[in-house]
Amino acid sequence: MMTSDIKAIEAQILREIENASDASAIEAVRIAALGKAGSVTALLKTLGGMTPDERQAKGPVIHALRESVTAAIAARKAAVDAAELEARLAAEAVDMTLPADMAPRGSVHPVSQVMDELAEVFADMGFAVATGPEIEDDWHNFTALNIPETHPARAMHDTFYFPDKDAEGRAMLLRTHTSPVQIRTMMTQQPPIRIIAPGRVYRSDSDATHTPMFHQIEGLVIDRGIHMGHLKWTLETFLKAYFERDDIVLRLRPSYFPFTEPSAEVDVGYAHEKGRRIVGGNGDDAGHAWMELLGSGMVNRRVIANCGLDPDEWQGFAFGVGVDRLAMLKYGMDDLRAFFDGDLRWLAHYGFGALSVPTLSGGISA
Ligand code: DAH
Repeated sequence: MMTSDIKAIEAQILREIENASDASAIEAVRIAALGKAGSVTALLKTLGGMTPDERQAKGPVIHALRESVTAAIAARKAAVDAAELEARLAAEAVDMTLPADMAPRGSVHPVSQVMDELAEVFADMGFAVATGPEIEDDWHNFTALNIPETHPARAMHDTFYFPDKDAEGRAMLLRTHTSPVQIRTMMTQQPPIRIIAPGRVYRSDSDATHTPMFHQIEGLVIDRGIHMGHLKWTLETFLKAYFERDDIVLRLRPSYFPFTEPSAEVDVGYAHEKGRRIVGGNGDDAGHAWMELLGSGMVNRRVIANCGLDPDEWQGFAFGVGVDRLAMLKYGMDDLRAFFDGDLRWLAHYGFGALSVPTLSGGISA
């Protein structure tokens, strides 16, 4: 083939490349020229049958053809890609200054809702809300609560410790319960004290009913002449208001907590309805049973003394209960882990409207 013929082929292919308007048209031209059966490939194959002289003359021309076609395809492809991107960006443009065409989808998490409900229930009984740090020291979390270093309860708490101690040489940890807020409150406030302390607590534990972080609410009353009758009445009143039914029956079982003496575990009667546990009724009645709900007791004299108060003058009761557990029982969730997955579908189902604030008069969960 004459060099002028090769030049004509080149001009033809370059024209086709220039006319290709999208990626697939470019690819078709590429296959027709450079593919296995392409025209340029066929020319390259003729080099093998040439004499050395012929090859020296035609070789550079044919190789130059391949190079110019390859370069032209790459350039055209880049131009088409850029144009396609431009078009897509223009089509998908969002004007952020336009008003939203969708209502906000946020909702109040059941844990927040239940904490609000509990604050409302206890406010009605004269309790203030107290808080404490989630990063605690072992004195507030254990020692002051009558759990000395050697006490087996320390091991039972599956504590997350920090590697460093604080300035006073106390081991630092993530609080394992809300009970240290009892200590902080007694050390900073004069009795009479009536507080609840809701918040996050942490234990190294994880399965369907345990998550490394969960929520508790602590209650503490310190006054003169406080006895277990006050404790039982308070728990009964709280649970009737929270579960919004009058047939709440409690069973107090003798138990042990280092920070209370005597201690009582509180069970509540329930029945199975539609495959879930519904709180209410006497656990000894037919079709009913008892479930353990919370820990409580009279504040141990040693704890009162550890906080600088005179246990002969001041007595009190305390209780602690899992907030997530309370939410599951009232609103029917069965897997605690879902509380902390942040799945919008779960939140849409179990969440609460941001504007429906719980009040005793309006119905706390309405
Ligand atoms: N702090 C206990 C726990 O996390 C719960 C508890 C039990 C709190 C009895 C109390 C109480 O205030 O009196 O296991």
